[in-house]
Amino acid sequence: MTTLDQGFAQQRSGLFDRFLSLTRSNEKRQERVIPDDVPLYLDTPVLPGFRQDAAEPEPAHLPLSMSAMAPPIKPISLRRDSIYAAFNTAMPVTDRHGLAGRNSELEKLVEAIVVQRKHAVIFGTRGSGKTSLARVFGDLADEAGCIALYASANGEADFDSLFRPFLTELPMSGAGQERARKMMGEPLDVSRLSALLVEEVRERSILIIDEYDRVQSETAKQDVATLLKLLTDIHSPVQVVLVGIASDIDGLIAAHPSLRRHLAPQRVAPIPKPELERLLLSCANNARLAIDEDALDMLASAAMGSPYHARLFGMQAALVTEAAGRDRMLLSDIEQGLASALEDWEEMSGQTHALFRRILWEAGSARRMIALSAIVASQMSAISYERLVTLGHEVLGGGSINESQARDAMARLQPALVATPNGELWMFEDTLAPQFLLLMAKQPVQAAPPVQTPAEEMRALLKGVDGL
Ligand SMILES: Nc1ncnc2c1ncn2[C@@H]1O[C@H](COP(=O)(O)OP(=O)(O)O)[C@@H](O)[C@H]1O
Ligand SMILES: [Mg+2]
Repeated sequence: MTTLDQGFAQQRSGLFDRFLSLTRSNEKRQERVIPDDVPLYLDTPVLPGFRQDAAEPEPAHLPLSMSAMAPPIKPISLRRDSIYAAFNTAMPVTDRHGLAGRNSELEKLVEAIVVQRKHAVIFGTRGSGKTSLARVFGDLADEAGCIALYASANGEADFDSLFRPFLTELPMSGAGQERARKMMGEPLDVSRLSALLVEEVRERSILIIDEYDRVQSETAKQDVATLLKLLTDIHSPVQVVLVGIASDIDGLIAAHPSLRRHLAPQRVAPIPKPELERLLLSCANNARLAIDEDALDMLASAAMGSPYHARLFGMQAALVTEAAGRDRMLLSDIEQGLASALEDWEEMSGQTHALFRRILWEAGSARRMIALSAIVASQMSAISYERLVTLGHEVLGGGSINESQARDAMARLQPALVATPNGELWMFEDTLAPQFLLLMAKQPVQAAPPVQTPAEEMRALLKGVDGL
C-alpha cells in the first residue's frame, strides 16, 4: 500500500514521524510500499552503565548546578529497550501476522470493498485499532490486485485537500494524467472529480482516508458524501474508505439515505479476551518475559478489549518486572503497572482524572453504576441512560434503583461526555478514558473528599455566568 503526503501541517511525533518521512522520501512507487523493517525506537542504544564516570573522584569545589547535585541516573537497560519495542503503543500494526483478533473484520472488508465494490466506513474508539485494521486491509487489497492508497486528514482539511494528494498516484493513462493535471490548476470540484475517476482510472483503486473524524468542515463532509454517491451510481473503479473515531456510521458521514446500502459499516469492536491474551503473551515473549496466568488475566481484563490499553498496561507491568530483576511477570507486577499507567494518565489528562476522582467520591453507592458506564463505553463505544438501566438490570440486578443511579451517573459524567450526532448516545470525549475510569473505580474509597484542581475551583466560581 502507498502512503501519501498531503502536505498537511500535521503534528506527528517520534517514530511515526520518522516512519512517514521514510515513506515520503523515496521516489519510486515500489519503494514507497511500507517497509517491514521500520527502525526501532532507540536505534542507537545507549550501553548500560554509561554514567559510571559518576563514580570518579569528586572535584574539590563542587559546582552549584542542579545537575551536579542530582544523583547518578540509573543505567539505561537494554532489556527496557526491548520492553518498549515489544509493547509499543505508538505504531499501528502494518503486518497482518501482527494483527490480533481481526480476521473476520478483514474478511468482511475484503468482501465488501474488493468483491462487492462498496465504499466503507471504519469506526471505533481511539486505540481500538482502526489504523492497524485499515493498513493491513490496504495490503490485502494490494495483493488482490487493487491499488490501495493511504492518507490521513487533519482538522483544516477541505474537499480539495482530502483528494488532491491521491490524484497524482492513481493509475491513469497519459491522457488521464494530463486531464488530472489541468483539474489541479483550480480547487477540486465534486462532479468533475467523480467524472475523472470513473473515466480515466484504469485499475481498481481504493482510497483510504484515516482520521476523518478530525475534518471540521461540514461542506467538506457533504461533498465527500456526494462524491461517494456519484461514484456508486456510475460503477466507478475507485472505492473510498473513511476511517475515524465514532460510535456509528453517522458519527463520520452525513450519508444520503440512498447511499447507506452501498456503504459498508465496519465497527472496530473490542478484541475478544482470548485474542488479547495471545497478543499480550507474544509482546511479553518478544521482551523475553514469561507471564503468570492470573497476571495475564488481570492485564487483559483491565484493557477491556482495547489493544492500545493492553500494550500500555503490559508495558508498565513489564517495567516493574524488569526493575525487580525477574523475567516472569507476576500478579503484583500487574497491580503496580496499572497504578503507574494511571499515574501517567493523570499527568496527561489531569482535568478528566480530577473529575472522575470527585464524582467517584461523591457518588457513594452509585459508584458501581459509574463503573458500569466505563465498561459499557469500552464495549459499545457510547453510553446512554437507557443502556445503563438495561445493563444495570442484567449485570447488577436490583430494580428501580438502577434508574435513579443511571440518571445520576449520566449527570455526573456529563462534563466528560460528548453527544453523538443523533443526540441519543454519548461518548467519552477522551475515548481512551473508560479503562482508566474503571481502574479508578476499583481503588479503595478515600476517607477525605478529593481536593479541587485550580481549574475546577475556577469553574465552580463561574457557576451562574451565562448559564454555566
Ligand atoms: N489487532 C491488533 N493486534 C495487535 N495490536 C494492535 C491491534 N490493533 C491495534 N494494535 C496496537 O494498538 C495501538 C493502537 O492501534 P491503532 O491502529 O493506532 O489504533 P487507532 O487507529 O484506532 O487509534 C498500536 O500500538 C497498535 O500497534
Ligand atoms: Mg489511528
